[in-house]
Amino acid sequence: MRILITGATGQVGSHLLWRLWRGGHEVTALVRPESAGRWRYLLPRIEQIFGPVPCSARGPIAVSGDLRLANAGVLSPWIAAHRGRIDAVIHTAADTRFHPVRREDQWQTNVQGTAHALALTETLGAQRVVHVSSLFVAGSGGHTLSETELEVGQAFRCPYERSKFEAERLAQAWAARTGISVTVARPGIVLGTSGTGTTLTYPHFFGFLRAIDLFAQRALPGESIAVDLPPHARPPLVCVDDVARAIEAALDAPLPPPCLHLFDPQSPTLEEIAELLRGDAAECVLHFGPQTDASPAARAVLSWLRQHRAFLAAPPQAENEMTCAWLASRGVPPPRVTAATLATQRAAWHRESQRLVTGAAA
Ligand SMILES: NC(=O)c1ccc[n+]([C@@H]2O[C@H](COP(=O)([O-])OP(=O)(O)OC[C@H]3O[C@@H](n4cnc5c(N)ncnc54)[C@H](OP(=O)(O)O)[C@@H]3O)[C@@H](O)[C@H]2O)c1
Repeated sequence: MRILITGATGQVGSHLLWRLWRGGHEVTALVRPESAGRWRYLLPRIEQIFGPVPCSARGPIAVSGDLRLANAGVLSPWIAAHRGRIDAVIHTAADTRFHPVRREDQWQTNVQGTAHALALTETLGAQRVVHVSSLFVAGSGGHTLSETELEVGQAFRCPYERSKFEAERLAQAWAARTGISVTVARPGIVLGTSGTGTTLTYPHFFGFLRAIDLFAQRALPGESIAVDLPPHARPPLVCVDDVARAIEAALDAPLPPPCLHLFDPQSPTLEEIAELLRGDAAECVLHFGPQTDASPAARAVLSWLRQHRAFLAAPPQAENEMTCAWLASRGVPPPRVTAATLATQRAAWHRESQRLVTGAAA
């Protein structure tokens, strides 16, 4: 298949790019001019972290673009030369900061950028789109979002959630107007691969691990942190390879699904995560209860938790039975995240931080 992908230098896009490349697809990545340097090293890097790609597979190429601009910043001669030559567009690019300094910048990338990506799709004549949204479009409000719903009167806890919701609404309206098939993929919080824990970048959950490691280095023996969070809350976790596998399956399907909820509803609770972190870091890192005075060592963890508190205390509520049934019909296993998966992620993060330290020292 001839595929145009946005966001290939990001956490999700880079793994997808590697998967599509390995799968023999003809892939073009829309890359911002300022990220041309990162693109140059991307292919060897993703082979190094995810595994070798057969020499026979045609290497992905890049086209320069920026979602904030009309035609996604792609020059007209390229568009003219590729009209009718792209089968599918996978739109993963976004400004993924929960609290951007200027929310209008994020809106421009996530909402107007989606409109530009879809307009480019239409001009190119591609007949299939996967729009990567987020489970966080469920917002807060207590409703459990199904794969057939979007607008359910939810409230949004940050500009990111609202922008992803608006982008998805726009994608659905565009699909209804053009008749072009759009699959919306809504991942939960994305981890590294299920097998090795590796990923190109280590955001979100890994920020928490980074803070815990800092605590472990600085804490007094036996010191722990009190957190005012519900121990039984389950952050909706998913491994990056499960996200990529589902998107690839949607591309191949004769009848693509309208929406996929990509997370494991049984992924570990906050209490189970805390249990996993206990042991090698400190005697007892996190315990649940009213927050008391923070020691200097605990501050990094508490500052991370403060920024993410709303999402941890009330994670988005969503169903995923329809997704699992559809994945099963395509022979794809459902997303799965166990305590062992998290231990693997942690080990990968430790290897990565070692690499960064030794790389920086070299
Ligand atoms: N990671 C998660 O936990 C998670 C969870 C749920 C949903 N999602 C969704 O999954 C998608 C991918 O997320 P991610 O974590 O992989 O993101 P990421 O690592 O932050 O990467 C974002 C990607 O978007 C590109 N991008 C940003 N602004 C752009 C612009 N104006 N024009 C063109 N490209 C632009 C970036 O390119 P540069 O290299 O040029 O910056 C980068 O390739 C997003 O839609 C996100 O909302 C992610």
